[in-house]
Amino acid sequence: MQTLTQRAEVRAFTTAARAAGQRIGFVPTMGALHAGHLDLVRRAVETCDVVVASIFVNPRQFNNIADLAAYPRVVEEDSALLAAAGCTALFLPEAAEMYPAPPVVSISFGPLEAVLEGAHRPGHFAGVGLVVAKLLHLVAPHAAWFGQKDLQQCAVIRALVRDLDFEVALEVAPTVRETDGLAMSSRNRRLTPAERAVAPTLYRALDAARTALLRGATVAEAEAEGRAVIAAEPAFRAEYFAVVDAHSLQAPDPAAGLPPTETAVVVAAHLGAVRLIDNVVLPPAVAGI
Ligand code: PAF
Repeated sequence: MQTLTQRAEVRAFTTAARAAGQRIGFVPTMGALHAGHLDLVRRAVETCDVVVASIFVNPRQFNNIADLAAYPRVVEEDSALLAAAGCTALFLPEAAEMYPAPPVVSISFGPLEAVLEGAHRPGHFAGVGLVVAKLLHLVAPHAAWFGQKDLQQCAVIRALVRDLDFEVALEVAPTVRETDGLAMSSRNRRLTPAERAVAPTLYRALDAARTALLRGATVAEAEAEGRAVIAAEPAFRAEYFAVVDAHSLQAPDPAAGLPPTETAVVVAAHLGAVRLIDNVVLPPAVAGI
């Protein structure tokens, strides 16, 4: 696996691959890789000739400076994992390489960022949009992989690609979970053993709401059941817990039952110093029942 640190290098690398008729897959990350990231790489390797992963802890998407400082950085370990997973190249730029001058362009996602993560992390999706747009320009992949755990991120990137005519196929892979249900996340490694023990409560809460919807409860009742599971665990401070449309992220009628469109249950909660997010999506076939 080659490690490329300059924008010009990654451009030259993928331009040559394209010219040679190779299909290029891309997995953007912020490092501290876990089985969820490696699953994205595995999927890319399955269908592409060349797979580029990036590791860049993008300062512009952190609205909380302490969160940016605490974000785990384990580049050597990550690099070995990517090479073993079959990655062809790692793009590993410094912040000054990605942003040689303070950017003046700002991407806004309107209603998609007015809710959930966007409402609690002002500027977060502007930062994600900017860096993903730059990475897609630099790597120019045929396909790029993202994890469903960041459901709202998937929605804004889908809008970015559609509205700005990026020629890339977006692939969203299901969330990879620990055996106790906890969604894999780079932030999990910051949990204390006691916090780690109660962390799967989030998934139990999502599952309770999903089960309630499937047995015919209203949206409001399902949300109440899920919230009660989190409230019973005092270590958590919930930020939001909601049933939403999986694509528009807007709230359905709380007094109605399971909506006929693809529906998600989403949560964000603080556990000690760590903020965790998770979601479950009810597939349309089920949601249509
Ligand atoms: O999901 C992430 O790790 C980041 O938000 C991404 C897509 C790499 C952009 O910095």
